[in-house]
Amino acid sequence: MTLHLKVVTSNPGKVREYQAALAEYGVEMEHVHVPYDEVQTSYLEEVVDKGLKALYAQGLRNFMIDDSGLFINGLKGFPGVWSAYAQKTLGNPGILKLMENIKDRAAVFKCCIGACISDQTIIVTGVCPGLITQKEAGTDGFGYDPIFSPGMDGGPTFAMIPIAEKNQYSHRGIAIRMLIDELKARKFI
Ligand code: IMP
Repeated sequence: MTLHLKVVTSNPGKVREYQAALAEYGVEMEHVHVPYDEVQTSYLEEVVDKGLKALYAQGLRNFMIDDSGLFINGLKGFPGVWSAYAQKTLGNPGILKLMENIKDRAAVFKCCIGACISDQTIIVTGVCPGLITQKEAGTDGFGYDPIFSPGMDGGPTFAMIPIAEKNQYSHRGIAIRMLIDELKARKFI
């Protein structure tokens, strides 16, 4: 039995990433762009849960969505659920400026994936702890990659390591593996 899953996103790169991870389980992904309101809340899980319900109410079936963000300790969790907006407006230089006199550099990347399949709901969250660097480093990746060093030893940033290695411990890589485990446990794959 082939599982057909619609990925609701405005980002085609994400669809390719999910397709690459789920292809070996015979999952067919379809990119759909259906606008829906994202609720204002500090929790990714709530954004995803409300998003699933809104899309279900619009009649969508067998679909998935995701939301991710960077939560910085020293900034009380900012940019968090506002990460996309903060990346567009402040960018990495703006975040480093906010961090100028802050000693606590700890941060976590979180990725929450939600799926609605045969009227069942799955919500999983992958978390990757790390440190905010003093300056940008590396040219690979996107978004906050040049200022985020995974782990607590101040090693290379996400923008300095190959994508396959990043996926081994990134928030999205972990969330995708959790999703696969759930799909297996519920016999969808
Ligand atoms: P989204 O909700 O997955 O689109 O992510 C929100 C924002 O977080 C994006 O605009 C990115 O700037 C940032 N972000 C999410 N995942 C990553 C990542 O793996 N590396 C760097 N930035 C990321």
